[in-house]
Amino acid sequence: MYHAIPMPTVRFLPKNTGIEVPKGTRLIDAIRQAGLPIARACGDDLICAKCHVEILQGSVTREAPIETDVKARNQIEPKFRLACAIRVHDDLTLTTTYWGD
Ligand code: FES
Repeated sequence: MYHAIPMPTVRFLPKNTGIEVPKGTRLIDAIRQAGLPIARACGDDLICAKCHVEILQGSVTREAPIETDVKARNQIEPKFRLACAIRVHDDLTLTTTYWGD
């Protein structure tokens, strides 16, 4: 019998919309699939840090040194994470500064 593989839900505030994505999806791709804008000035290459988001709920993998460096170079506050550096493995809730309601 076929059992659907559970898919994590990514929820976006303040709109409070959500999307289910397969585990392992890059967070920046989940945001695009949800139709929300996400800033970037590189090719999702961990260079520009424009894609920073704030994870409000749910766990993501620990920040790698390169992500920390890129954020520091671009003067991004430590609380933000880079959406092109994260893969979705669990339910997440996130926001960024320009997602109004
Ligand atoms: S898109 Fe440039 S660092 Fe994420």
